[in-house]
Amino acid sequence: MSDLIQAVRAGASRAELLECDLPSRFRAAYTLKAEIGIFHGTTDKDVRRSIHVGEVEMPELAPDEVVVAVMASAVNFNSVWTAIFEPVPTFTFLGRRTGDARWWPRHDLDHHIIGSDASGVVVRTGEAVWNCSVGDRVVIHPGVVDPGDPYSQEDGVMATPLAWGYETNFGGMAEFTVVKANQIIPKPACLTWEEAAANTLCAGTAYRMLVGRHGARMKQGDVVLIWGATGGLGSYAIQFVRNGGGVPVCVVGCSDKAEIIHAMGGEHVIDRSSLGLGDTGLREPASWRVLGRRIRQLTGEDPHIVFEYLGQETFAASVGVARRGGSVVTCGSSTGYRHQYDNRYLWMRIKRIIGSHGANYHEANEVNRLIGLGMVTPTLSMTYPLDQAAEAVRLVQRGHHIGKVGIRCLAPSDGLGVTDMELRERIGEDRLGLFRRAVVPR
Ligand SMILES: NC(=O)c1ccc[n+]([C@@H]2O[C@H](COP(=O)([O-])OP(=O)(O)OC[C@H]3O[C@@H](n4cnc5c(N)ncnc54)[C@H](OP(=O)(O)O)[C@@H]3O)[C@@H](O)[C@H]2O)c1
Repeated sequence: MSDLIQAVRAGASRAELLECDLPSRFRAAYTLKAEIGIFHGTTDKDVRRSIHVGEVEMPELAPDEVVVAVMASAVNFNSVWTAIFEPVPTFTFLGRRTGDARWWPRHDLDHHIIGSDASGVVVRTGEAVWNCSVGDRVVIHPGVVDPGDPYSQEDGVMATPLAWGYETNFGGMAEFTVVKANQIIPKPACLTWEEAAANTLCAGTAYRMLVGRHGARMKQGDVVLIWGATGGLGSYAIQFVRNGGGVPVCVVGCSDKAEIIHAMGGEHVIDRSSLGLGDTGLREPASWRVLGRRIRQLTGEDPHIVFEYLGQETFAASVGVARRGGSVVTCGSSTGYRHQYDNRYLWMRIKRIIGSHGANYHEANEVNRLIGLGMVTPTLSMTYPLDQAAEAVRLVQRGHHIGKVGIRCLAPSDGLGVTDMELRERIGEDRLGLFRRAVVPR
């Protein structure tokens, strides 16, 4: 183990960290360019075949970048896409950003280090970095934005953003990562390393979809239908809806998950397995009506907003059940990205479909502030060591998880990294550990 890793784990000072050499190699979870195509002809594209853990080289540091010693990371669904090489292999776009011929080609390697969430300690800064210092405890915003794009002043998500660890290399499931300094956010002091690493991507995405000025702009009293309400995105969506005075209607896949929703203060739960849908699932109008009736039984109204990311299987129903003038806000297509819906229900009832992607740096900081205040809590349900990163991604690939699944990278055990115990006690272990205590139905 390098001196730097030992120093980071011991909570060393800035000066002590700078005295330690930066290792030339480190351990990371990655996919291999040579393995594109290994799943051709297979039905179960098991990510454990394509995610490897081993040593990789430390990249050279650009002037606007920092090296972070990663204490913990978390699984996002984009690592499933990376590991099954779909919808296109990430190797086809790594390093292809134009306008930075000196530094960008570093990303185009024969391996892709995955992971778009992390918490850790800054151990080196590039010569042009001014917003953070060695020794800072941080989390990492996954949006890599080109600051030379004029849109970055209006909304970073419009400035050709790339998802770190998905559209870029050197992701978070590793002992070290190299990121732009404008991805750095202070770590909430009340959280452990693994809790802090769980939030930024999913909470930021859900915040922009529901609260941010580019999303559905939920107002007090709005009824919001949340698909997969105990999943990565859904578990933060319910918190934003409740905080903003909305009425969440939470869809879950089995009745056991209802308990977690109730513990989070969600009153209205729909177990989709109890809707009695046929082979066509929610794709036909008759089934949307069943769902719509259930929502009206619970709330007396149709939803103002549908929180959507499932795509093919649910999109028609989402458009169908939204109220006149309502919105469907979408950031993904887990079940297939070619959706069919009946457009008459959209235009005749003046509904809107809003595309949303990630969060800008400001939105990510706003979410971090809410987390730091204890108004939004992590939904981490379990952790795996870095060596078992493939197992962790497999769990998410199969949907056998709730909330977020964490990865311990340099953190030797769970429960470390809290620097404001008083605040933690005020928030309460009951709320902070809710998803960890829940029994996960498999
Ligand atoms: N564009 C962006 O910025 C962005 C950011 C984050 C995520 N995403 C995308 O959003 C999607 C979800 O991410 P996530 O992290 O929330 O994933 P997740 O943790 O796997 O949650 C997905 C949820 O979907 C529900 N579900 C699965 N199949 C379903 C079906 N056929 N019908 C209804 N519900 C179903 C599951 O809940 P139940 O089984 O309990 O119903 C599960 O909790 C992914 O496609 C991801 O790529 C996009």
